[in-house]
Amino acid sequence: MEQFENKRILVTGGAGFIGFHLCRKLAELAPNLTIYDNLSSGKLENVKDVPKAKFIQDDILNLKKLCTLEKADLIFHLAAQVVVPYSMENPIADFETNARGTLNVLEKARKDDSRVVFASSAAVYGNPAKFPTPEDYGFNPFSCYGLSKVVGEQYCKMYMNQYGLDITILRFANVYGSRCHGVIHDFLDKLQRNPAKLEIIGTGLQSRDFVHVSDIVNGLILAAAKENALGQTYNLGFGTTTKIIDLAKMILKILNLAGKTIVTTTNVSWQGDIDTIWFDISKAQRELQWHPQVRLEDNLREIIRERKMPQ
Ligand SMILES: NC(=O)c1ccc[n+]([C@@H]2O[C@H](COP(=O)([O-])OP(=O)(O)OC[C@H]3O[C@@H](n4cnc5c(N)ncnc54)[C@H](O)[C@@H]3O)[C@@H](O)[C@H]2O)c1
Repeated sequence: MEQFENKRILVTGGAGFIGFHLCRKLAELAPNLTIYDNLSSGKLENVKDVPKAKFIQDDILNLKKLCTLEKADLIFHLAAQVVVPYSMENPIADFETNARGTLNVLEKARKDDSRVVFASSAAVYGNPAKFPTPEDYGFNPFSCYGLSKVVGEQYCKMYMNQYGLDITILRFANVYGSRCHGVIHDFLDKLQRNPAKLEIIGTGLQSRDFVHVSDIVNGLILAAAKENALGQTYNLGFGTTTKIIDLAKMILKILNLAGKTIVTTTNVSWQGDIDTIWFDISKAQRELQWHPQVRLEDNLREIIRERKMPQ
């Protein structure tokens, strides 16, 4: 990808889970890489593990700081408040980071005439009636997080149409892999503490489209490199859906705990939780030649090995 060699690249949220994996890959392709992150959920360890990148610890709500950074040719905007239940309890804080923060990043992009890739989410669809869900399904967010991502997307569209900015919107399904947070790590944490018992929050019948972070990184890079991605929105998932109870069974099988661990459900999930995520990924396959490679079953073993849990 020699088109990144001479680019000044800014990654907001680069100390987070996806940001870390993206920056590690970008550091191989681009010598001028800056991570901008307030470390609210990101980790210094992630930044240290990408030693070639410059690191600026600050907030996307600090517009003045953003605009005094060196000119960026390309911005990956990943910084966000990502916790759905938090967004329901703190809708204003969620809005500030995800809506106003995105607007600030777009202002930085307008000043520098940067290309932008914006990380959006399955949460913009809410509980869709169509599966697999295509990009043109429409917005129907079910949580404040989903709504603040819709606002971010709409500002992206406004900046494309009115200011001629080059932007691509990527909606991620459930991203997993090493250093991730979310249901897989929640289950493994619980089982490490007590292998005799696993409590699932909700009914266990919620269903998710799990996509590996290495596939997401490839999607982010393709979206930034391809001319035909300008002005487009893409779903990035695996294109299949897995019930949370089946995920629990897969994990127990790998850990040789099938039939030994008592699995219970709380039956009530958190406010804003979506029933099913199952993406139609044909647009990204067709237009970006993006084909997710990593199967959940295969990678779970690797995650478990990495945590040094007995298999
Ligand atoms: N992980 C997933 O499954 C998933 C799914 C859909 C969408 N996304 C989107 O992908 C992006 C990255 O998610 P992630 O899973 O890596 O989450 P993460 O929490 O690991 O990373 C987010 C990063 O943003 C930083 N950040 C938060 N608020 C900030 C602020 N005000 N100023 C500067 N930095 C700030 C955090 O410190 C963190 O490093 C987010 O935009 C998220 O909404 C993730």
